[in-house]
Amino acid sequence: MTRKTIVVTGGAGHVGSHVVEMLLADANNRIISLDNYFNGREENHIAGAEYRRGHTKDIEALIPEMPDTVYHLGEYARIAPSFEDVRQVYQMNMIGTFAVVEFCRIRKVSKLVYAASSTKFAIEGDGRHQNPYSFTKATNVDLINDYGRWYNLPYAICYFYNGFGPRERGDGKYATLIAKFERQYLEGLPLTVVAPGTQRRAFTYVKDLARGIILAGQTGFGDGYALGVNNSYSVLQIAHAFGTPMEIVTGYAGREESANDPTKAREELGWEPTLDVIDYIRDFVRTHPRQ
Ligand SMILES: NC(=O)c1ccc[n+]([C@@H]2O[C@H](COP(=O)([O-])OP(=O)(O)OC[C@H]3O[C@@H](n4cnc5c(N)ncnc54)[C@H](O)[C@@H]3O)[C@@H](O)[C@H]2O)c1
Repeated sequence: MTRKTIVVTGGAGHVGSHVVEMLLADANNRIISLDNYFNGREENHIAGAEYRRGHTKDIEALIPEMPDTVYHLGEYARIAPSFEDVRQVYQMNMIGTFAVVEFCRIRKVSKLVYAASSTKFAIEGDGRHQNPYSFTKATNVDLINDYGRWYNLPYAICYFYNGFGPRERGDGKYATLIAKFERQYLEGLPLTVVAPGTQRRAFTYVKDLARGIILAGQTGFGDGYALGVNNSYSVLQIAHAFGTPMEIVTGYAGREESANDPTKAREELGWEPTLDVIDYIRDFVRTHPRQ
């Protein structure tokens, strides 16, 4: 049986590394990651995958192979800092993604699978205007849908809701909430909750996101695979689950909560989330008792 070549952009990142790992479970798959290490890390590399270092804008030169499927996760992926990083956001998400979509058209891939952002569904579907990140993500959804119309490009679009779990970054400017709270907990610091703390998110286990996008790559078609848990939690509820002191700080509380209709993912892909974030935190606290 000939091996299937699959490209994962952003394969050294949080969700992308799990996508790489799950795809490698099938020995018939050859996995090539393309990542510029803007936020990716070599410690996320999975044995057996091939790693190419570079920007998606150069995908044509960096991937001479004819891949079967492209999972496109390699984009600037943070909301709050996207205001000050707007140039990088534009370069990485607009210029880079245009090159990926063109690459898929020219190489006639059997499917382009895109990791879109659920932020688009906030404010009655007007969420794209909340910040530069959401704008680029929603614009790329439009672009991919139009490539489907214009060129019959086969594609599937998944919407991720707040990934959490192993390999999440807790340090620096691009830290995400659960890993940041874990780090503060381990360092004996109060957990910093951005006011008002009532902002809610549908925290979804990273391995469930990875499984969902792979299912969409295998059997999905078109737009609308929302991969999010139904029960959301406020940031205050999340901090409480750690059972340690917290501190309310000022900052960008982020976007409005996004609407979530996982019907298409459940009915067409049989996708179900498997882990509740509060259970994950309880397990973390149990296995890391604070001195
Ligand atoms: N994690 C979430 O909650 C969430 C929610 C909605 C959408 N998404 C989308 O899922 C994808 C993965 O998100 P993540 O949380 O794993 O982020 P991440 O930052 O951990 O992973 C993104 C990876 O892509 C790489 N990258 C960024 N721009 C690139 C470019 N132009 N060329 C090559 N590599 C590039 C980064 O170095 C990083 O390794 C992103 O497209 C993100 O927008 C994530």
